[in-house]
Amino acid sequence: MEAPKSFLFSMLLFLISIIHKPSLANEVYNVVKLGAKSDGRTDSSKSFLDAWTAACRSTGSPTIYVPPGRYLLTHALFSGDNCKNTAITFRIDGTLIAPSDYRVIGNIKNWIKFEQVNGVSILGGILDAQGSALWACKSKGPNCPLGATSLEFGNSEHVVIQGLTSINSQMFNIVISGCQNVNIQGVKITSPGNSPNTDGIHVTSSTGVTITRTAIRTGDDCISIGPGTSNLWIEQIICGPGHGISIGSLGRDFKEAGVQNVTAQTVTFTDTENGFRIKTWAKPSNGFVRGIHFQQATMINVDNPIIIDQNYCPHEQGCPHQASGVKISDISYEDIKGTSATQVAVKFDCSKEKPCSGIVMENVNLSYRNKAARSSCSSADGSARGVVQPSSCL
Ligand SMILES: *[C@@H]1O[C@H](CO)[C@@H](O)[C@H](O)[C@H]1NC(C)=O
Ligand SMILES: *[C@@H]1O[C@H](CO)[C@@H](O)[C@H](O)[C@H]1NC(C)=O
Repeated sequence: MEAPKSFLFSMLLFLISIIHKPSLANEVYNVVKLGAKSDGRTDSSKSFLDAWTAACRSTGSPTIYVPPGRYLLTHALFSGDNCKNTAITFRIDGTLIAPSDYRVIGNIKNWIKFEQVNGVSILGGILDAQGSALWACKSKGPNCPLGATSLEFGNSEHVVIQGLTSINSQMFNIVISGCQNVNIQGVKITSPGNSPNTDGIHVTSSTGVTITRTAIRTGDDCISIGPGTSNLWIEQIICGPGHGISIGSLGRDFKEAGVQNVTAQTVTFTDTENGFRIKTWAKPSNGFVRGIHFQQATMINVDNPIIIDQNYCPHEQGCPHQASGVKISDISYEDIKGTSATQVAVKFDCSKEKPCSGIVMENVNLSYRNKAARSSCSSADGSARGVVQPSSCL
């Protein structure tokens, strides 16, 4: 009877081992357990990268956990090369800080970068790039590093950024470049109104990006949209200070992908330089902008609430015919109210060579110091419906 007994025993062990096997779906890689220090002074990059490597190898839905505290990260590149996992979550209860010496990351473009990843979510967390010394350098003269983007996703898909806060970025706060299916929500971005080039969120060459419930105070565009962007949805945004929501600058290059199917709605702009802007270089290009819907916005003391500027040519250099080749069509402005800080509240300054067409304005009511504002049109064609104040020049 020896054999059956030991057989039963090993069966029992086997069952226990199944029951007690940790669920692969719940693996947590705590960066502190991997050596990260929450003192804000010790470089913790290696622990973060080790957590990433482990999560990439795991077969479940791993979480990389960052407990409360301040973690110094020098350059951190999370690469999708050799990463089999497509469901990695960063849950961040702490603050990630960049080196206080801006030169460490000032010339390497990105502070934290995800490249060619699939299925990464970032939940919570504060990014503090400590950019103020670089801004001060830039205000004194031209011999400063360009500065790094705080967080970039490049050539990635199925990305979620939720509840993240970005402060004191050296340059752009968040860049989405060459991506598909990106969902940004509940994000907060804060830099001073005079901090140079600190765009809030820059989306370029990407499709299927949504940005919702996000508050952006910054020194440059709240949201800027580059060539090759399509199916972009922007909703419930608070913008200001800043330069507004901007498509462009486009048409810098002759051969350039267009921008199409962009909706921006339920936006409040406060004391911004622009509200909804489309901006192109005054030079030849095969680019285009079409199928854009700007709707349900409140403008509070905005310099240029509605503006298309196709005559961008800084220093008047490299713009031979002073006309933009970018064709702008099918653009609607609906339910937009509030106050302009300048008399020209609506300005369509389009290309002489490729006039704007299909601009639709409906229920727009903008005033200037309790008086009527003005609108100004050049090479712009379209129609107006309902209340349109200032009266349309289309
Ligand atoms: C436009 O983009 C939205 C997402 O922002 C998408 O749902 C819709 O299908 C797109 N429309 C077309 C015609 O591609
Ligand atoms: C436009 O807005 C102003 C200020 O809110 C308001 O007094 C005025 O009645 C509005 N005009 C129209 C035609 O709705």
